[in-house]
Amino acid sequence: MGKNVTMDKIVNLCKGRGIIFAGSEIYGGMGNTWDYGPIGHEIKSNIKKQWWKTFVYQNRNTFGVDAAILMNPRVWEASGHTASFSDPKMDCKECKTRHRADNLIEDYAKKKGLDVNPDTMTDEQMSEFISENQIKCPICGKCNFTAIRQFNMMFETSRGVTEENQNKIYLRPETAQGEFVNFLNIQRSMRAKVPFGIAQIGKAFRNEITPGNFIFRTIEFEQMEHQLFCREDESGKFYDLYKQKAWDFLISIGFDENNLRFKDHDKLAHYAKSACDIQYLYPFGFSELNGIHNRGDHDLSRHEEFSGKSMLYVDPITNEKFIPNVVEYSIGADRLMLAVLCEAYNEEVLENGESRVVMKLSPKLSAYKVAVLPLQKNLSEKANEIYSQLSSHFYCDYDEAGSIGKRYRRHDEIGTPYCITIDFDTLEDGTVTLRDRDTMEQVRMTIDEVISFVSGKIS
Ligand code: GAP
Repeated sequence: MGKNVTMDKIVNLCKGRGIIFAGSEIYGGMGNTWDYGPIGHEIKSNIKKQWWKTFVYQNRNTFGVDAAILMNPRVWEASGHTASFSDPKMDCKECKTRHRADNLIEDYAKKKGLDVNPDTMTDEQMSEFISENQIKCPICGKCNFTAIRQFNMMFETSRGVTEENQNKIYLRPETAQGEFVNFLNIQRSMRAKVPFGIAQIGKAFRNEITPGNFIFRTIEFEQMEHQLFCREDESGKFYDLYKQKAWDFLISIGFDENNLRFKDHDKLAHYAKSACDIQYLYPFGFSELNGIHNRGDHDLSRHEEFSGKSMLYVDPITNEKFIPNVVEYSIGADRLMLAVLCEAYNEEVLENGESRVVMKLSPKLSAYKVAVLPLQKNLSEKANEIYSQLSSHFYCDYDEAGSIGKRYRRHDEIGTPYCITIDFDTLEDGTVTLRDRDTMEQVRMTIDEVISFVSGKIS
């Protein structure tokens, strides 16, 4: 986490600097939905590109897919989502608002410093804990709740042309099933041999009712998931490997390892051999950033059972037949975006006593790589020429409005790593001054040198 960061500061900066806006804002917004603005869209897209590069291009034997969001409803029966993808919810009898019992307990335990984990409790135990500790409704402050009921979190819609002919279908609550149902296709069409991976980045939807801490928990979000199909006796090795890869990826995009930690799951699904999260230190405390699961052969076995298609893999060397095990690594692109923003945010007091907000984003993730700033308006022809030249190499901004100090501050706040100023010497010798966002040091160089310097930083 950066210096002096709070959630309010992040939300305000995002709104003011074109990073993220409240969804449907002119209609008063819609809970837990957010729209990415020009800067935010670029940063998130760079996060996804880095993930894809690491987990597909540089991860031998991994194949990317882009599966349909709407899937055959039998998929969700096989995956268990229809029967048990639910949250323990209860209503406040006083103010009629709905809450997640586990979240209320977690928040209470955090505040009181208690070691209590609602994941290991039954609904009855959670109810008892709430009334024994008189945990209050966060809206009206009373403790008068209905019994806990399980609510399915999948969004339903229907297909069919007439009312009578409608079939219930779901917006996918995770991208993973798109990878599992394509296991046979990928294996056959790409001549894939176990161990191999299938990766996907795509939208998922969950009917989350709790306030989401900005983009931490939303009802529509993107997941970046990687499923590794392997032999059972190698699954432990790959589980450890993907824990390491997930960690290294975060370090490679600029995280300080002191702000990350592994957390084993206290309660494992009946089929899972091991599961853990990497947690990040958000301004509201350590919370889940991503998950790594050793899922055994559960996923492919269930799809074999429900689809009737054999998922047996025949080892080409030993002729052994088996259903591959799955090691899953899953991370939300939006949740990672939030962590990236919190990690990058810094407030600094400068030598002249002024202060600045600076987003120390990795140059690989920043929206603009370079801002082109003519020192005077009558230098704009040369500056435009340089902007066009640089734009064919990386995304640049052109900014001639306001004092140079204000322009630097604007770019510090959105994390532009380099600003170049065009002055009268540029007309003479073609050199510009390149200013480093973090050190604020300035170096004179030619445009060719700028191109190779910046390219080196983002490659
Ligand atoms: N296929 C496994 C799976 O979906 P999950 O723990 O439910 O596992 C994986 O989700 C990741 O997706 C989480 O670690 C988190 O980064 C992200 N995620 C889950 N629910 C989210 C939500 N409502 N809003 C934003 N991100 C979410």
